[in-house]
Amino acid sequence: MRWISRLQLFFFIIYMGFTHCPDICPEEMEKLGKIVKTFDENPDLPDLQPMFITLDPERDSPSVIKDYLKDFASPRIIGFTGTEDEIREIAKKFRAYFGKGPKDSDNDYIVDHTIITYLINPKGEFVNYFDRSVKAENIIKTVTEHIKKYNELEKRNLL
Ligand code: NI
Repeated sequence: MRWISRLQLFFFIIYMGFTHCPDICPEEMEKLGKIVKTFDENPDLPDLQPMFITLDPERDSPSVIKDYLKDFASPRIIGFTGTEDEIREIAKKFRAYFGKGPKDSDNDYIVDHTIITYLINPKGEFVNYFDRSVKAENIIKTVTEHIKKYNELEKRNLL
């Protein structure tokens, strides 16, 4: 698939959550949208590919995720879902915790989860993570430094 090999050129900034999350996920996604918008609007900043991975594949179908992502500042955020097993495997890889709470009378439930935004390099390697307390401007600064350093080393064939 050609788009995958093209995506591999980029650093990824990834947030894992679920679309029914009442408050924290929307805040973090809002922050992610703003970060990506800043990168997109500034030609001096490197390319960055944002991604949302659901921790609630039972309810978050591709169309639910697509609708959800419309609410945030960047139209470039890619959504990802999979089988329960696939999501569990990805979360394990990222050392992210998530657990489904009990269903209420409306069949609604909360997914308790780690609130972390990850930076992944074009080789798919973990580079850095940001917890909820890190402000957008600090994430932008750190991400930019990492990408510039990586590109510099790559230019000199040191990676
Ligand atoms: Ni959440």
